[in-house]
Amino acid sequence: MQVNKAEFKCSSEKISQVPKDDLRDFAFIGRSNVGKSSLVNMLTNHKGLAKVSSTPGKTRLINHFCINNSWYLVDLPGYGYARVSKDKRGEFSKIILDYVLKCEKMHFLFVLVDSRLEPQTIDLKFIELLGENGIPFGIIFTKADKLSASQLRRSVERYGKVLSEQWEELPPMFTSSSEKGLGRDEILGFIEKCL
Ligand code: GTP
Ligand code: MG
Repeated sequence: MQVNKAEFKCSSEKISQVPKDDLRDFAFIGRSNVGKSSLVNMLTNHKGLAKVSSTPGKTRLINHFCINNSWYLVDLPGYGYARVSKDKRGEFSKIILDYVLKCEKMHFLFVLVDSRLEPQTIDLKFIELLGENGIPFGIIFTKADKLSASQLRRSVERYGKVLSEQWEELPPMFTSSSEKGLGRDEILGFIEKCL
């Protein structure tokens, strides 16, 4: 898929504020700092469209970016960052849970995980929650530029093994690097097939 137009639509602090049209959302979730906002910029070829920071907890709201006037890429706040969630109950903030579990626009969720790390409990918990609630999702392994090809393959295999202890069928999995533009065609191609 070609991205001919990518524009910021709105930031919402609750799901009653998300756009009221019937365009579908493809959203990015994952731990703070995993690279969600960077991936929005890489996929749209638009540096600075979503705000990126080396300090975790940068994205605080639900951000809708309209692509080709026909669907939304959605950048969500991260989870697992103490300073953001301290005053909120539970591990996953209300804004994230409401969006993921209740927002009718939400069509497909990409869970981003850092390709350098072994499967993290908080991500596995989140994935379990998605499974229990029948939310369609895939996994994107980020920051692949930090690993060699064989390390990356091993990391993806390791994740697959852990997931297959719980799941009969593995979700779609992608590897990406926002630095190098890796994974762009695969992720956009997948979204195109879903539309
Ligand atoms: P929050 O909004 O805080 O939840 O973070 P986020 O998941 O949106 O992460 P963000 O895109 O802001 O990136 C966090 C840091 O990781 C920044 O310093 C990015 O430059 C860096 N980063 C993101 N993607 C990549 C990547 O593919 N490769 C490398 N090397 N660094 C990356
Ligand atoms: Mg962000």
